[in-house]
Amino acid sequence: MAEPILVEKSDQLLVLTLNRPEKKNALTRAMYQTLAAHINDANSDADIRCVLLQANGDMFTAGNDLQDFAAVSSGSSPGNEDDNPFILAIGAARKPLVAAVNGRAVGVGLTMLLHCDMVFVSEDAALAAPFVNLALVPEAASSMLLPLRIGYARAFEVFVLGEAVPAQRAVEWGLANRAVPLADLRKVARAAAQAIASRAPSAVLATKHLMRDATALRRRMDIERDHFMRQLRSPEFKEAFTAFSERRPADFSRFK
Ligand code: COA
Repeated sequence: MAEPILVEKSDQLLVLTLNRPEKKNALTRAMYQTLAAHINDANSDADIRCVLLQANGDMFTAGNDLQDFAAVSSGSSPGNEDDNPFILAIGAARKPLVAAVNGRAVGVGLTMLLHCDMVFVSEDAALAAPFVNLALVPEAASSMLLPLRIGYARAFEVFVLGEAVPAQRAVEWGLANRAVPLADLRKVARAAAQAIASRAPSAVLATKHLMRDATALRRRMDIERDHFMRQLRSPEFKEAFTAFSERRPADFSRFK
């Protein structure tokens, strides 16, 4: 079976490619661990000056693997989902992160972008964080970062109504630097990563450090996790997951 995360190190870049296209790059626990290990290692690797995240297939990612969520929800997995190592790694990353987003980015596919320093989207991209559609709550400090970035009213619509943000609007709202034709996406994102890598390295690291409050992010992640785990074990989530499996809309009408 192909590796679900491809890793390349060249030109002072670490390139991490999501490579589970048959499942729309849904992120499993193992994939999070691999991503986190490489991002954490890059923190102290002087040969890596920038990390580039990209994806194979027809979309960036469909978000967290829903089977993994369901396993925690039903108790068949030990429930150690509560500390997602990837989310912790991107929240604490010292090296700049650049994302090349092809097509849809769902759930953590959007929230991870709030931790990236530059984001490029293909013109057909659409960013969505439909946590409430799944009876879940925002994660990765996005309950703080998204309203700060795009304003409360827009963020509420994204989280609660699950509205997808098309590429051009993502640029207008400051979620992405630029929308480019799909054929140019990787080239443009890699050029940006190389430009970052060409700058004075300690000045780049200090600038990123100054622009982000890692302590506040971590505090928010911890608060979100408590709500998230409670929702994941709720009957509401069971209904949402069953509906996804049965390819029907969820029916929350019976819940008080
Ligand atoms: N977790 C696990 N498997 C997923 C998945 C996810 N998040 N998203 C898609 N898949 C799987 C599907 O079950 C399907 O598997 P199968 O071929 O074995 O049946 C395969 O990937 C293809 O997905 P499909 O739904 O047929 O693709 P699509 O192009 O019609 O739709 C999406 C793509 C992203 C709109 C749709 O898959 C979707 O809504 N996924 C769930 C997104 C989500 O809610 N993520 C969590 C957010 S918190």
